[in-house]
Amino acid sequence: MRLQLLSSLPKASMMHAEKVAAARAFLAQKTSCVPEVAIVLGSGLGDFADHISIHHTIDGNDIPHYPVPSVAGHHGKVILGSSAGKSLVLIKGRVHRYEGYLPDEVTFYVHLLAALGTKTLILTNAAGGVNFNFEPGDLCLITDQLNFTNARLSANATTARKREIYDAELIRLIKKVALQKGIALHQGVYAGVLGPSYETRAEIRMLARLGADAVGMSTVIEACAAVSLGLRVAAISLITNKAAGLGAERLSHDEVQRIANQSKERFSTLMSAIIDAL
Ligand code: HPA
Repeated sequence: MRLQLLSSLPKASMMHAEKVAAARAFLAQKTSCVPEVAIVLGSGLGDFADHISIHHTIDGNDIPHYPVPSVAGHHGKVILGSSAGKSLVLIKGRVHRYEGYLPDEVTFYVHLLAALGTKTLILTNAAGGVNFNFEPGDLCLITDQLNFTNARLSANATTARKREIYDAELIRLIKKVALQKGIALHQGVYAGVLGPSYETRAEIRMLARLGADAVGMSTVIEACAAVSLGLRVAAISLITNKAAGLGAERLSHDEVQRIANQSKERFSTLMSAIIDAL
C-alpha cells in the first residue's frame, strides 16, 4: 500500500508540471516579457486593472488547464500590462477550495507565475475583521498567517532558506508607502479557513484568542506555494465586514462586494504607489 502510494507520486507531480508548462507556452505566445510583479485581485478589487496600462487580457478559459472561478463577482482573467515602468501580471479572480478545487488547482496560477519567471507576488483579498478595532473598509497588511486549510508548505519548502511566509522587506516597503500616501493601514495575522460559509461566533472568538486579526477563505495556500517556489510574497486584506458576532449586520457576499466597491479607489491608490516603489 505504502509502496504503491510512493510510486504514484512522481507521475502525479509530472502531470501537474506538464499542465503548467502548457499554460506557460500559451502565455509565451502573447508576450516575451517576464512580468516582474504579479498581483492577485481579491473579491470586488478587480477594478484595479483600470489603473494600469493593459497589453493583453486573457480569459482563463483560453489558457490550457487554468482553473476558473464559479463565484459571482469573481472573474477568471490573466491581464498582462505595465505600470510605473514595471511589467505586471494581474490575476483577476482566483479559485477557492470551497468551490471544490484541489490545492494544486488553487495554486495553479502560482506555479504558472514561477514558470514565467515572476519574482514578486502581491496577494489581495476580502476578509472579515476579527480584531475588534478593524472596521469595514479598512486595509490590513498581512504580516503572518494561521492556516486552517489543511494544505501546507511542500516538503522541499520546509528545507527552504526562509521560514517566514511574508517578506520582511516588502512589509517595510508597503508600510512606508502607505504612510507617505496618508493611507491608514493596519497590520495583522490572517486566518485562512476553508469556508464556504462564514464562521460562527464561537469560531471567531477562538480565532481571536489564537491571534488572528482577519479571517478569509483564500491566500494562505497560495502564499505557501509561492514561498516554496522562491517568490517573495506580500498580502493585503480589505476588511469588508466585522467577523461573526462582532458587528450588527448580517454577513453576506453582497455586503462584501458593496464595501469593496466603496474602498476600491483607496485600494488602487495604495497598489499603484506600491508598484511604483518596488
Ligand atoms: N469570513 C470569512 N471570509 C470572509 C469574511 C468573513 O467574515 N469576509 C470576507 N471574506
